[in-house]
Amino acid sequence: MMNQANHIAIIMDGNGRWAKLQDKKRVKGHEAGAKVVKEITKYCSNNKEIQRLTLYAFSTENWKRPRLEVEFLMKLLEKYLKDELPSYLENNVKFEAIGDIRAFSKSLQKTIKNVEEKTAHCDGLIQSLALNYGSQDEILRAVNSLKECDENITLEMINNALDCKRDVDLLIRTGGDKRLSNFLLWQSAYAELFFIDTLWPDFTCKNLEKIIQKFKKVERRFGGLK
Ligand code: IPE
Ligand code: IPE
Ligand code: MG
Repeated sequence: MMNQANHIAIIMDGNGRWAKLQDKKRVKGHEAGAKVVKEITKYCSNNKEIQRLTLYAFSTENWKRPRLEVEFLMKLLEKYLKDELPSYLENNVKFEAIGDIRAFSKSLQKTIKNVEEKTAHCDGLIQSLALNYGSQDEILRAVNSLKECDENITLEMINNALDCKRDVDLLIRTGGDKRLSNFLLWQSAYAELFFIDTLWPDFTCKNLEKIIQKFKKVERRFGGLK
C-alpha cells in the first residue's frame, strides 16, 4: 500500500528573498506568496486524497519583524480572507485558524471568525492557517487548559487540547532552510519531511505533485519493522 497524504503541512518560506532577487520590497514577496496559497489550496481541494492542508502564515516569533512589515502582513491576511470567502465556498473548503489570534486586531479576529463560520458546513478540504502560531505556545496553552483536572494527563487529552489535533503525514518547507521554526512539533512526530530550495512565490502545483509522488513511496515504519 502506498502512503496517503491525508494531512499536508507547509512552511511557506522565502517570500522576502524572492522579492529581493527582483529588486522589489519584501512585502511584494508576501503578495506573490498569497497568490500561491490560493493555487495550492485549489489544487489540494481537487485531490480527494488530501483531507487537510495546514499552512504556516505567521509565527509567534514573526512579531520581531519591522512594524511596517507586520502591519502589511495583517492587512494582507484580512484582504486575503475577505477575497477568498467565495472561493472557499465554491471549492467546498472549510477554513480554520490555529494559533492564538487574540493578539490580532478586533477587526481581523472578526474576519477570521466570520470565514470560519461561513465555511463551517463545507466538507471538502480543511485549510488551516497558522496565525500567531508557535508549537511551544500551543502546547503551553493546552497544558494550562488541563491543569485543573484531577486525573493523570494522557496523550489523548493533550492531543485534544491542542489547536491542531491531527498528525501530519507530509511536512514541506520551501526556501532552502532545514528547520521547523516552531511549527507543529507535536503533530510532526512521525511526519515525512521534505525541504526544497524553491522560494515560496515560485512554488507550483507541479512541485507539490512531485513531492507527493515521492512521499507515497517512502517506507513509513513508525518505529516498527516492515
Ligand atoms: C515567509 O517568508 C513568510 C512569513 C514568515 C510571513 P519570509 O518573509 O520569511 O521570507 P524570507 O525567509 O525572509 O525570504
Ligand atoms: C517560518 O519562517 C514562519 C512562517 C513561514 C510563517 P521564518 O522565516 O519566520 O523562520 P526563520 O526565522 O527563518 O526560522
Ligand atoms: Mg523566512
